[in-house]
Amino acid sequence: MTDAHLFIVFGATGDLMLRKLLPALYDFLQGDPSECRAMVLGTSLSDLDEDAYQKAATQALVGKGIPEEEARRWTGQFLRYQPLREQGPEGYRALRRRIESLEKEHDLPGNRVFYLAVPPRVFVDAVERLGAAGLNRSEPGWTRLVIEKPFGQDLPSARSLNRHIHRFFSEDQIYRIDHYLGKETVQNLMVFRFGNAIFESLWNREHIERVDILVAEDLGVGSRAGYFDGVGTFRDMIQNHLTQILTLVGMEVPAVAGAEAIRHEKIKVLQSIRTVETNDAVFGQYTRGKLDGEATPGYREESGIASDSDTETYVALRLSINNWRWQGVPFVLQTGKRLPRRLTRIAVTFRRPPVMLFRSYDECRLAPNVLLITLQPDEGFSLSFEVKEPGSEMSVTSRQLAFRYEDAFGVLPDAYRTLLEDVVHGDQTLFVHAEEAEDAWRLYTPLLEERPPIHFYAAGAWGPPEARRLLEDTPEALYA
Ligand code: BG6
Repeated sequence: MTDAHLFIVFGATGDLMLRKLLPALYDFLQGDPSECRAMVLGTSLSDLDEDAYQKAATQALVGKGIPEEEARRWTGQFLRYQPLREQGPEGYRALRRRIESLEKEHDLPGNRVFYLAVPPRVFVDAVERLGAAGLNRSEPGWTRLVIEKPFGQDLPSARSLNRHIHRFFSEDQIYRIDHYLGKETVQNLMVFRFGNAIFESLWNREHIERVDILVAEDLGVGSRAGYFDGVGTFRDMIQNHLTQILTLVGMEVPAVAGAEAIRHEKIKVLQSIRTVETNDAVFGQYTRGKLDGEATPGYREESGIASDSDTETYVALRLSINNWRWQGVPFVLQTGKRLPRRLTRIAVTFRRPPVMLFRSYDECRLAPNVLLITLQPDEGFSLSFEVKEPGSEMSVTSRQLAFRYEDAFGVLPDAYRTLLEDVVHGDQTLFVHAEEAEDAWRLYTPLLEERPPIHFYAAGAWGPPEARRLLEDTPEALYA
């Protein structure tokens, strides 16, 4: 059962709302309003009237393949708009009045989600003003706050942000979003590990040689220069998405499948990681190149990017988890823009057999077993085996045992859709705890302060050549 609620989005005219949240809300809120008692109230500094906002939202939904008539019906039924004309107390008091009148009109019991889909510099102000307007609690009903990444830019700023937010909202009201945690395949990492004894019994330093985590994007910075330049790939991707994947791969078995227990185990992984040295990281930036046969501009030539920007668009990072399970096993994270293709994948390389029985034939060809977990696109698993090639010679070759999500389940739900539903249901499992956010920054802040030098790579290459020293033993299959 979903509680009747009001979903209030700050930054309602922004890219995130129009491209991601709106289609997710559309998918989530269907049916007769008498059955599904929920409304969405968008707010932003744009001085639009409600009609104009509904039109813009309708067009955004049409852009996602929803028929125009249906999109118009949905926005008319579920979506309202309140401009935050004045950002000061009066703007927030007006917002409160609008919230209360909508709740009355639609018979909503005071359950509220505030979603901050706004630039990080606005977080503190928005939270304080919500608090000052008395919107941090509702009686009766619950109030939840959703905060987008990046959560801070280093340890001091993340701490200070947590302190500010905690003045008005308690931790059980706060949902720090990392949309990677909403991806089915990322969530499935836990089921894969803890629902299948065969892998969990091998999941340690005795049997695993290394773990590679790759998040490759073929897109460049696009229209997001204003946000991205100065932030860079480390803060945009490594500190959150890749680190979250790492903790799910590395964590111990939680006592129960609940939010507290799982987040506790993830925090322990972060606390066990050895401090990252400059030597463990390579930063890159794309230059002109070719992707899919088309010439693409260099990062410094993109619109809105300074011609001498040294923002990194690529990072390779080697981490060591200093605990009984993982001591000595390198975890190598790699992510970048304008890499040859979009691919998010984990490669778990197992140790080779201790004795090479087939040595006399061709030792070099005896490859380790590699488990590939592809998170997107073409989601699925494959495990490579060594098998004998038929024939009289003892010739060994690698073959895959593979599973594709699409074959079994068709299209997977969208990450934002999953996460919005969890917020409304009050399930914090897939959200980042205050301590988790701080621990990730604690780990990376010294490296970010030191800032490794930037190396260049042509768009369409797998990063700069300097990264090879960290990737020497990465299995080829990771990129295949
Ligand atoms: C976002 C980053 O969080 O994730 C973007 O800000 C990045 O820079 C995006 O492109 C990647 O997400 P996905 O779901 O397309 O892999």
